[in-house]
Amino acid sequence: MSAIAAVDVIRAKRDGAALSEAQIEWIIDAYTRHEVAEEQMSALLMAILLNGMTGAEIAAWTTAMIASGRRMDLSTVGRPTVDKHSTGGVGDKISLPLVPLVAACGAAVPQLSGRGLGHTGGTLDKMESIAGWRATLSPREMADQLSSIGAVICAASEDLAPADRKLYALRDVTGTVESIPMIAASIMSKKIAEGTSALVLDVKVGTGAFMKRADHAAELARTMVALGSREGVRTSALLTDMSTPLGRAVGNAIEVAESVEVLAGGGPADVVELTVALAREMVSLVGLSADPAQVLASGKAMDAWRSMVLAQGGDPDAPLPTPRFREVVVADETGVVTELDALPVGLAAWRLGAGRARKEHAVQAAAGVLCLAKPGDEVRVGQPLFELHTNTPDAFTAALADLSGAIRIDPTGAAFDRPALVLDVITEG
Ligand code: URA
Repeated sequence: MSAIAAVDVIRAKRDGAALSEAQIEWIIDAYTRHEVAEEQMSALLMAILLNGMTGAEIAAWTTAMIASGRRMDLSTVGRPTVDKHSTGGVGDKISLPLVPLVAACGAAVPQLSGRGLGHTGGTLDKMESIAGWRATLSPREMADQLSSIGAVICAASEDLAPADRKLYALRDVTGTVESIPMIAASIMSKKIAEGTSALVLDVKVGTGAFMKRADHAAELARTMVALGSREGVRTSALLTDMSTPLGRAVGNAIEVAESVEVLAGGGPADVVELTVALAREMVSLVGLSADPAQVLASGKAMDAWRSMVLAQGGDPDAPLPTPRFREVVVADETGVVTELDALPVGLAAWRLGAGRARKEHAVQAAAGVLCLAKPGDEVRVGQPLFELHTNTPDAFTAALADLSGAIRIDPTGAAFDRPALVLDVITEG
């Protein structure tokens, strides 16, 4: 019998006390072993959401979640390891060009990714649009690919922070996802367990992001940077705008196509800007001297992309899936686009089949929304604004309703100031 009782831990947090390291270690371990009941953990999560946690509690919670599974050892890789994590946004395909770009700069990027849930897409769902591409790699295959190519995008194994998997599912159904300590511990436990030596966080702010407010996003970023540093992972964070979708493509296959355009030296300016900004931060954290903009222009990042896709069974030259049905939304006035709200675009893509409502649902590779006009663009009456793609045409009505207020056109054509994409950089200390 343990000297600690779950009900005492719940009462302590309910009454605003800080939990001890021993209490946290015990409750995470006992919960992972199904010895603490779901209703008890639910009560504790709600008390944490309401009363918060100190830095020491968050660190202990993160360490206990890492210890619930296996911490990977990437010391044999032979290149400096550095990863990126985004808190999720609409049209956020940045990992696809970024991972091969940073590999082509000389680092190894062990990107363990997830699938999308709700209006933000998942990197694995996008990559699975590529014929033959395999998300599951053994630890040996992952380490070999990191040594030879430097780029891996794959699914996290079941034994990576299993406590987080269980807790995340519970938070999802108990209204306790929106706790900064819990989000920070959840993200950082997985990234630290993955074994990377350095990490750049892309913390999104805006309507299409988890964090709608810049001060909350900054607090989350500072909390995660502190957790990384404590665990010996050099960590920094970029706060970036997610009030409008990144690039023009929001979906799966269409985001792969847009990423390949970037690797080929083209693509939308915002996707290129953010890819290069994150790559610069990653390369600098591990002390490499390569200039990511030059490496991108040289075509070496495209070579790394092709090698990475081939190594995981994919055919980089195979045509990407196309939708069976399309609808176009046109402008009903002439002017300058002053707003394109990320959230309704993400919701529309999700309804068209690009995302899932439940974990077990499948996604449509060809579904999504192409944003044909972005903030700052001039449009004329009748000009296409959105192209909707799906294999399930019943979804058009709801998706069109989502998009009805998503775009604002200023008929006076007044000058438009594009907001900055990178809002802030948060580093250790
Ligand atoms: N992503 C995670 O991995 N965990 C959270 O809690 C929120 C977003």
